[in-house]
Amino acid sequence: MTGIICGTGSYAPSYTMDNNDIAKLVETSDEWIQERTGVVRRHIIQGETTVSMACEAAKRALDNAEVTPEEIDLILVSTISSNVILPCAACEVQKELGAMNATCFDLSAACTGFVLAYNTAAAYLAGGIYKTALIIGSESLSNLTNWKDRGTCILFGDGAGAAVLKAEDQKFYLPVTHSDGLKGVALTCKSRHDCNGLTSEIAAESLVDEAHFMQMDGQAVFKFAVKKVPEVIREALKRNKMTQEEIDWYILHQANRRIVEAVAKRLEEPIEKFPMNLQEYGNTSSASIPILLDEMNRTGKLKAGQKIMMAGFGAGLTWGATIIEWHS
Ligand code: UT7
Repeated sequence: MTGIICGTGSYAPSYTMDNNDIAKLVETSDEWIQERTGVVRRHIIQGETTVSMACEAAKRALDNAEVTPEEIDLILVSTISSNVILPCAACEVQKELGAMNATCFDLSAACTGFVLAYNTAAAYLAGGIYKTALIIGSESLSNLTNWKDRGTCILFGDGAGAAVLKAEDQKFYLPVTHSDGLKGVALTCKSRHDCNGLTSEIAAESLVDEAHFMQMDGQAVFKFAVKKVPEVIREALKRNKMTQEEIDWYILHQANRRIVEAVAKRLEEPIEKFPMNLQEYGNTSSASIPILLDEMNRTGKLKAGQKIMMAGFGAGLTWGATIIEWHS
């Protein structure tokens, strides 16, 4: 028994900032950002919130799955940037959808969050505790971004992605996940400041204490990702007695094109097996994997029976890989 994905949805704000917009805020250039990260533009909230984006992505996923809100037993929202502390974002989603039979809670594991949300939901479904789950990654990272810090503001964006899982008598692939709190200093954000959808002009004037923003040792996170992601992918394959040849797609957290390319190289896999959309969204933390999954689903790239390796990594530090078989 496991949780199979039977529908996906995503949402990105219509307002975008391209690299030239960022270059008006900090000393950088479109050329540098594209070469070092692959990012071309990012979507930024203007009126939307983490909860409103989560609701929109969730509605689209439910439509795609042909599942009604009443059928949902579990709603899990993975986020580090919710606009509400209480009640949790998942309960806010429940209220908006009218999913009154669901148990709801949030999960905070940064860029590994969606992988852990999938694992958590799949374990509940495999255990027979719930039958239908809605998992969502939603982030308004623009609220946590220091728009005067060129080491971070070039990277991040806002958006949400969701998936509906149903309990089915199919193979349960064992995930592999890790955490290392000793190295957490590489990516921190000490408190939260709701800037309510920063525009570039307001951002430039923002005088909020730096502790409110994400602070990152970019090189440390880069090295960690390039080393640990291939390792955890190999561990997940070994744990399930599978080979790389059996994996059709590697859907990695979309942090930096060079990280994805380095992982492909270390695994000696063709880059074509590593779809990317970070050029359009930047790094949307726990939303990046479900947004990409939804795009691949809707463009017909995912075929029944294909095996997908999802891998996340980020603050904590946390990282993990999990295999799913596509059934939609
Ligand atoms: O979601 C998980 C969390 N985050 C990540 O996965 C991010 C991982 N890290 C990264 O993606 C990269 O480390 C960054 C994109 C953040 C930075 O790229 P990098 O290649 O590691 O750059 P760097 O920090 O080594 O800096 C190289 C040079 C430096 O100049 P010098 O000392 O060589 O003269 C920097 O001062 O580039 C300079 N630099 C910039 N120049 C223009 C750093 N940031 C910028 C910038 N624009 N935005």
